[in-house]
Amino acid sequence: MKTLKTEIEKRKTFGIISHPDAGKTTLTEKLLLFGGAIQEAGAVKSNKIKKGATSDFMEIERQRGISVATSVLAFDYKGKKINILDTPGHKDFAEDTFRTLTAVDSVIVVIDVAKGVEEQTEKLVEVCRMRKIPMLVFINKLDREGKDGFDLLDEVEQKLGLRVTPLSWPIGMGERFKGIYNLWKKDVLLFSAANKQRISEAVSFDDINSPDLEKMIGTEASETLREELDLIEGIYPAFDAEEYLQGDLQPVFFGSALNNFGVRELLDAFVEIAPNPLPKETDKRLIEPIEKDFSGFVFKIHANMDPKHRDRLAFVKVVSGKFERNKNYLHVRLGKKLKFSSPSAFFADKKEIIEESYPGDIVGLHDTGNFRIGDTLTEGEEMQFKGIPSFSPEHFRYVNNMDPLRAKQFEKGIDQLMDEGVAQLFTMEFNNRKIIGTVGALQFEVIEYRLEHEYNAKVSYEHVSIHRACWVEVEDERSEEFKDFLRVKQKYLARDKYQQLVFLADSAFTIQMTRDKYPSVKLHFSSEF
Ligand code: G4P
Repeated sequence: MKTLKTEIEKRKTFGIISHPDAGKTTLTEKLLLFGGAIQEAGAVKSNKIKKGATSDFMEIERQRGISVATSVLAFDYKGKKINILDTPGHKDFAEDTFRTLTAVDSVIVVIDVAKGVEEQTEKLVEVCRMRKIPMLVFINKLDREGKDGFDLLDEVEQKLGLRVTPLSWPIGMGERFKGIYNLWKKDVLLFSAANKQRISEAVSFDDINSPDLEKMIGTEASETLREELDLIEGIYPAFDAEEYLQGDLQPVFFGSALNNFGVRELLDAFVEIAPNPLPKETDKRLIEPIEKDFSGFVFKIHANMDPKHRDRLAFVKVVSGKFERNKNYLHVRLGKKLKFSSPSAFFADKKEIIEESYPGDIVGLHDTGNFRIGDTLTEGEEMQFKGIPSFSPEHFRYVNNMDPLRAKQFEKGIDQLMDEGVAQLFTMEFNNRKIIGTVGALQFEVIEYRLEHEYNAKVSYEHVSIHRACWVEVEDERSEEFKDFLRVKQKYLARDKYQQLVFLADSAFTIQMTRDKYPSVKLHFSSEF
């Protein structure tokens, strides 16, 4: 029977994070193949921004199309309903990825065996680590020469700050890659480079010293494997599901996504150990998925690809209860009841209207401008989900409206693009000038292009020397120290979209000096503190 409890227990919602090119798209596709959600390889389009895309706007538009299609990919496997949330790997879209990570219950980190831990992976894993999100690590491209397994695990521990334990172990690598020993199930899976497929069903080895191992992989490889397994037992902690769920231990798997090797082992472990939808904090209390009343939050907004239709798609993660079509829900920030006649769900690359949804699911809601990233929907309770902060942008520019007759379009366009989270807007306190802050330089061109094509507004940018946006927190707004801060720094103070006070510092040195001079004024690099 379908109950809230059984539906919650069926669901596993996760994201795959990696540096571009490590194999995220390939792995996603293989997972969908196993789930029977797609029939052939090549069906999942890569959402990579190709090099040189900065000047190629068709490319950006194409990417937007793909990113709607691949925002959520759902499939069934072994009685579980699995939702993969897409996370752009390109660093200019890192903010998008950070926000998507607020909607996942666990992640799989993909690492290229030859390249090891790369920059983008470091940043994303740091966010997951801080939030204690359970993580599995998949070391990919074992069919190629790469780094030694132990060196890689060291690198993962040191650069990513993780505490790892291998659950599978490669037998050789590149040309000599023979297969994988599954430490969890205690079996060997053989790889054949010739047909690039598994050549055997896994063969069990309760006793790794059995001479049958030699028959399968030869004397040399057997000896090496036994030595390495000994070492592993000595160095790494035993797998403990509870520690993994607490974010304190990260199991590592090896394989080759392209060759379909080691992927099923990863998936089988995933469905067994990955968490079901987790509770989430609000400004009032912790919300448990099993609560009868529906609640959820918007983590992504996607503008319509057709500029003639201004409606957008808001992606809502269901946190608790059952979401139903045509039922009235409270939009907490606006204090307004809304109902949705055509909520959609995503299944592989298809989108369809649904009647109901459960915790862990992502619902797409048509929106005519009511939603902002971070908005909460409930059955009436006034609460706001936490943990969807804005981070300080890295690039800043003044933005000017070039056509005074189109001021309205300009304002509306900027407003809506900011709601979508394309960039952040800061309005200077002393002269009301607008400054746009972005994570990557690419966004400025996206904004200019979209304002012109979707809102008929022309903009120009102007250089402004800002190093970081610091959100200001102060205990006593009437203190002399704070008044002095406001007076001295008035030319550097702005309001963000939520009217929070922000100090736009021109250098790291200024931030330090300001902290020293005004110890009671706290400066934060993120909007939630
Ligand atoms: P991404 O989404 O993380 O950016 O990576 P993606 O899956 O697109 O993979 C990047 C490249 O790595 C692709 O090659 C892909 O075929 C290759 N790749 C993925 N998994 C493996 C693997 O296990 N072994 C080997 N040898 N290669 C792998 P490409 O040439 O950039 O793209 P394509 O033309 O093949 O699509």
